[in-house]
Amino acid sequence: MNVAVIGSGGREHALALKITESSLLGKLYVMPGNPGTAAIAENVNLNVSDKESVIKFCLNNSIDLVVIGPEQPLVDGLANALRMVGINVFGPDSAAAEIEAHKSFAKYIMSKAGVPTGKYIEFNATKYDVAVDYLKQKKYPCVIKADGLAAGKGVSICNSPEEAEEALKSMFIQKVFGDSGEKVLIEEFLEGEEASVFAITDGNNFVILPSSQDHKRIGDGDTGKNTGGMGAYAPAPVVTTKMMEIIASKIIAPTLQALNSEGKKFIGCLYAGLMITEDGPKVIEFNCRFGDPETQVVLPLLKGDFLKMLYSAAKGKLDSEAVEYAGGCAVCVVAASKGYPESYEKGFEITGLDNLPENIIVYHAGTKEENGKILTNGGRVLGVTAVLEQNNLAEAKKLAYEALQKIHFENIYYRTDIADKAIK
Ligand code: AMP
Ligand code: GLY
Repeated sequence: MNVAVIGSGGREHALALKITESSLLGKLYVMPGNPGTAAIAENVNLNVSDKESVIKFCLNNSIDLVVIGPEQPLVDGLANALRMVGINVFGPDSAAAEIEAHKSFAKYIMSKAGVPTGKYIEFNATKYDVAVDYLKQKKYPCVIKADGLAAGKGVSICNSPEEAEEALKSMFIQKVFGDSGEKVLIEEFLEGEEASVFAITDGNNFVILPSSQDHKRIGDGDTGKNTGGMGAYAPAPVVTTKMMEIIASKIIAPTLQALNSEGKKFIGCLYAGLMITEDGPKVIEFNCRFGDPETQVVLPLLKGDFLKMLYSAAKGKLDSEAVEYAGGCAVCVVAASKGYPESYEKGFEITGLDNLPENIIVYHAGTKEENGKILTNGGRVLGVTAVLEQNNLAEAKKLAYEALQKIHFENIYYRTDIADKAIK
């Protein structure tokens, strides 16, 4: 089977690496990929927003399955276009990807399906004054969210009416998120611990992969700006077996059913971002794809044939026994460029990537190769991941940070407390 993975980050490196373990695999391509994927697959340097050239490549190279990593091509309808010419795709059509593209749509689906989530109210940009009045009588903290895609930056946690008005102004008046901020959701603040859950689905049936926890803030102790994710661990102890059953029956199943009944069948990975509250799990957000960096810790824990699972889901007949979790844990620490998530320099040489212990995987996220050297090329540069056969997160954390000590580049920055919440 020939497979093409779309994307160029750490998540796509993890997807590609897991796919190479399959005996079903013929040739693996990554579009456009990165130096990490170049070592295990063939990178194809084409513009993935140009659907025609992706289709042409897939047809010319007898691609049996396309796995789409990031949300933007899904929202833009790349899966629709590929399916139209008969190519199997793991990833939803644009209609189902709307669950990530518009938070108001996700809320609509959840209310229809009776899925637990924070209470909220919606405002359009034309109703700025009404929204400001509403903010004056709200309970704080409260959460203001841009309705559309904003690369993880469209959420503000506000502690006072002044802060909330500032956030609203930036979306409605300064339009920092462009059209994505034309509508906002003002949501109740949920207290608890966060967890990420991936459901692999053919649109009807699903399997849930081990839970994980991301670390969204830039600083230790969850301080500072939100980022794409500074590290992750799996499994997340806060998601007990009983909790997972509730998540499956009260969140994933009804959501897929509601999407189906709207004529928006979801094929791919439905990512539920959850707050585990005193009243049980509540949905913070849905994504229409695997999480980054959560994928880097979840996939190494899977035994069996990951490609078989993706292919069977894409074909509409999920093989729910293709993979299993039989223990073990992983911790991924993101090595970032100092300054991220704001401005940072790039182009620094990375050393120390060779001769790391066997249980360490270094996923490439923002790197490039030049004259045989690997250089930094993004905010999140590497995902240094320790994988253990035993479920011992403290040990996995120790190994990940030991490996990180051997890796060098100028202006390296990382959090030092990844997985501490689970270890405490
Ligand atoms: P999102 O982009 O929707 O995942 O939100 C980014 C982050 O903001 C989440 O990972 C949470 O840490 C936080 N967040 C979002 N919504 C809420 C909420 N209703 N209550 C508390 N924290 C939230
Ligand atoms: N790690 C958060 C996300 O993938 O959206």
